[in-house]
Amino acid sequence: MKPCEHLAIIMDGNGRWAKAQGLPRSAGHLAGADNVRTIAIAANELGVKYLTIYAFSTENWKRSKDEVSYLMKLPAYFFEKYMKEFLDRGFRIRIFGEMDDLPKATAAVLQEAIDESKTNTGLSLNICMNYGSHREILLAAQQYARDVASGKASLDLDEQTFEQYLMTKDIPPVDYLIRTSGEQRISNYLLWQIAYAELCFVKESWPEFTPDVLKRCLEEYNNRDRRFGGVTNE
Ligand code: FPP
Repeated sequence: MKPCEHLAIIMDGNGRWAKAQGLPRSAGHLAGADNVRTIAIAANELGVKYLTIYAFSTENWKRSKDEVSYLMKLPAYFFEKYMKEFLDRGFRIRIFGEMDDLPKATAAVLQEAIDESKTNTGLSLNICMNYGSHREILLAAQQYARDVASGKASLDLDEQTFEQYLMTKDIPPVDYLIRTSGEQRISNYLLWQIAYAELCFVKESWPEFTPDVLKRCLEEYNNRDRRFGGVTNE
């Protein structure tokens, strides 16, 4: 079995974790951001090459103004605290999502992280920020239509060409998708990219998702039989 190259995570349960400790929801998001660093390092050590995390969805704008504002400030906290270490470890930061619609300061921090790490060849830490899969596919279709209209693209569209219009164009499909905190939903996440991914739902909330839990999940992945629509080799 090929090891998991591309791991995607839906980091759910920050709010419930905070509530259970008698803390505000923001404390859950802060603990969640710190845990991104812990899990990125652990995933890298376990051989993962691409780690894609759902930090803010196109639907998350519906949350209270205070919570949205807090989540928008987290990238500044996160990169100020951890970027040097990420660079030392050779991590590359990619952002998937519409950055133009983020507060200017948030977009600037994210752009700086992309620029500073763009020649790195280690773990690709892909942060989905103002990301939604329907929106990603729609934007791709619109750009493709424009390219056909201007004569840049042919009407014979195949899957490989369409993938070049997605935000994830430079990276392989998702091998394994983990969602924390017991919910069993995909929530508009990487719908194209998870076509053949294995799925894993764990009860731990995101702040409780430790490197040991990650290891357990990856061991489970290694025992799965991925057939991609074919038949088993046994
Ligand atoms: C879902 O839990 C979590 C989010 C919507 C935000 C996730 C963001 C982080 C972990 C911070 C990452 C930030 C950076 C910059 C890397 P929830 O709040 O919906 O939890 P609940 O379902 O218990 O309320």
